[in-house]
Amino acid sequence: MHKYIEQIFISSKKESRLIIGLMSGTSLDGLDVALCKISNSGIKTKVELLNFTTVDYDDNYKNKIKAVFAQQKTDLEQVTLLNPWVGTLHGAMVNQCLAKWKVAAGEIDVIASHGQTIYHCPAHQHGIEDFGNGTLQIGDSCHLAVKTGIITLADFRQKHIAAGGEGAPLAVYGDYLLFSSPQENRVLLNMGGIANLTYLPKSTDPSVVFSSDIGPGNTIMDAYVQQHFSGLHYDKDSEIARKGEINQNLLNALKINNFFLMAMPKTTGPEVFNLAYLQRAQCASNTQDLSHNDILATLNRFSAEIIALAINQCTEKLGQFSLYASGGGIHNPLLMEHILSLAPQITIIHNTQVLGIEPDAKEAVLFAILANECLAGHAENFGNPAQGIPKTTMGKISFPI
Ligand SMILES: Nc1ncnc2c1ncn2[C@@H]1O[C@H](COP(=O)(O)OP(=O)(O)O)[C@@H](O)[C@H]1O
Ligand SMILES: [Mg+2]
Repeated sequence: MHKYIEQIFISSKKESRLIIGLMSGTSLDGLDVALCKISNSGIKTKVELLNFTTVDYDDNYKNKIKAVFAQQKTDLEQVTLLNPWVGTLHGAMVNQCLAKWKVAAGEIDVIASHGQTIYHCPAHQHGIEDFGNGTLQIGDSCHLAVKTGIITLADFRQKHIAAGGEGAPLAVYGDYLLFSSPQENRVLLNMGGIANLTYLPKSTDPSVVFSSDIGPGNTIMDAYVQQHFSGLHYDKDSEIARKGEINQNLLNALKINNFFLMAMPKTTGPEVFNLAYLQRAQCASNTQDLSHNDILATLNRFSAEIIALAINQCTEKLGQFSLYASGGGIHNPLLMEHILSLAPQITIIHNTQVLGIEPDAKEAVLFAILANECLAGHAENFGNPAQGIPKTTMGKISFPI
């Protein structure tokens, strides 16, 4: 038997497994690396986050990815070269974390790698006849496996699409398995480049659980800051937005998009919500002369309004519920203040730390959970195709040798 087939077999039967979850989101801020000890599977899954860090990307990485990221037309040679380059780089980053944590590669059962999304195009977005949903993550898993010597599961989104989903959001699987509670209605809000939410009513009835993208979290704000403030990646602590005033005309124009009228669940990305989107809204509202401060104040409010609207829509019939937030957006205080003021049924926004998972680590942990399900779970554990959640396990397996 192949050594690694045997190893995977042994891992799958263990009481607990060490899995490294890797997440690299559309914000291009860094690689989230979460070392998880996971026991059981399905609704019995238990996770202990043993270590977590975000390895920041340097400008070289950001510029190389940005050259192809979310671009309809791009340099195919560059994409082809980036795929192994990102895989090897992510592998080197894992090695660096393991050395820092004093953990040997041989102790790790598997790596669960999301990869770097460079294009996401659900059918409702591209509208091209003959084609269904599509999404592309690069950072080839064979390169990760060879670089680290650790079996690597990756490219989770393809199976989701093959099984009938849009390839996103995948958070619903882990959110349901880890955070669903018969004690309270919960909404989990993740604010990365794109914001998404997971709806977990206390009935724990899988037929009503869903995850949906909401629209831009940080992505347009980040892109604007990067374009106009040299050396800055985002509006740290809302410093710029706080100096500006919200422009109601621009805000109204930003909110006009069919995506916001579609019922949840739905998915989107920076392919739609980008600087060109902002420019069109500025033209339509005749607000091309606004200051950078006013534009950021308005973009911040725009994200908050669509996020609050989505929360209000999905909790209408719930009565009381608790909101648990995660992702980089929780560090943007103005965004958080706006959301609180716009969703009157919420008096406090918890972060997922209350539920035992550090909010910046949550997405990476969720991919570790998907890998755990692939190794030890049963696809029939959870799913609801009508809500965009096919009953399936995900992840392609790469061996180091
Ligand atoms: N102190 C902060 N102030 C404002 N925004 C922040 C702060 N820290 C992080 N962010 C935002 O969070 C983003 C990263 O969030 P993350 O959840 O990693 O997104 P992604 O999953 O898209 O990578 C940053 O690009 C930035 O917009
Ligand atoms: Mg990130």
